[in-house]
Amino acid sequence: MNAVTIQPYALLDDAECEQRILAAKDKLGDRLVILGHHYQRDEVFKHADFSGDSLKLSRQAAQSSAEYIVFCGVHFMAEVADILSRPDQISIIPDLAAGCSMADMADLAHVEKAWRELSEVLDADEQITPVTYINSAADLKAFCGRHQGIVCTSTNARHVLDWAFNQREKVLFFPDQHLGRNTGYSMGIDLADMVVWDYDKPMGGLTHEQIKQAKMILWKGFCSVHQMFQPEQIDNFKAKYPETKIIAHPESPFEVCQKSDYVGSTEYIINTIANAEPHTRWLVATELNLVNRLHDQFKHQGKQVHFMSPTVCMCSTMFRIDPQHLAWTLENLVEGHVVNQISVPQLVAGQAKAALDRMLEVSP
Ligand code: 13P
Ligand code: SF4
Repeated sequence: MNAVTIQPYALLDDAECEQRILAAKDKLGDRLVILGHHYQRDEVFKHADFSGDSLKLSRQAAQSSAEYIVFCGVHFMAEVADILSRPDQISIIPDLAAGCSMADMADLAHVEKAWRELSEVLDADEQITPVTYINSAADLKAFCGRHQGIVCTSTNARHVLDWAFNQREKVLFFPDQHLGRNTGYSMGIDLADMVVWDYDKPMGGLTHEQIKQAKMILWKGFCSVHQMFQPEQIDNFKAKYPETKIIAHPESPFEVCQKSDYVGSTEYIINTIANAEPHTRWLVATELNLVNRLHDQFKHQGKQVHFMSPTVCMCSTMFRIDPQHLAWTLENLVEGHVVNQISVPQLVAGQAKAALDRMLEVSP
């Protein structure tokens, strides 16, 4: 019998999906592990066997012995799970359309073009360490593997940059300019020593002199969710509640991170608020599903958790993973049909793994 298509599942309500997901999980037992990123909606998140930020979930994928790794997150996360797991394990994403718009801002053709152009000005392989944020396609991680570069996450970006600058004098950082700038600045690198590479322009829109002088070359990518946060939102909120603590994800703009008391990954944000004194007030710059969960989770301690932006900004691609797709995926697995497998070609996977392994070695 062939795999069942998604269509009939679109008609199921969330309660029906929940029953079916629980029943399928029961049948699959330890052949299945569900990994859930913190930005997943509650109806999906509650089914995760393990939750975490990108680093924690990568480690979980590498350690898991399950036959099926179902990743409730976005595409690059399921790719990393495939690369770091054993060849006989199967990585699956419930909806193939769950990509990451920031990851899409850098592709191999543009990065290779940048490397060629930088090589006209410098000895790129001798002078530049390429560093890719984990929010990137597997072939960019493979590019970093080939060019003695490395991957980073929002948790370990500082350790990774320390390593990168120990290898060579400059870093090409892609795709997120904000994580690069915020981390570089926190390490003491002057803003004047960072330039932005505009991938739509010849030579990134930079002069030879600017490239020779820069320490960090930041790709002109950003997260459409985190770029909504603005320093004025902090000022307005603090005018009303001056005691508020500000916490931001490092994909947020530089001015927001500068005005924040704490900056870190989704896992760091959760732990910081969890460990804070009761009756504290928090203004949080990260995705709405996570902030709403924090609000609900800690209100019994008198903690007030607020979302920074006055407009709703959810990660629309994370939101594509819904209970209907999860029920569809799991029931097909019960029937022996693998749907939406993420399989990175062997050569790319090997080179990407070299860059990921370097990251895991230098991570705290
Ligand atoms: P974390 O690794 O901090 O969870 O971030 C992933 C991400 O995509 C944030 O937008
Ligand atoms: Fe990508 Fe931004 Fe969504 Fe994170 S929040 S997965 S960076 S689009």
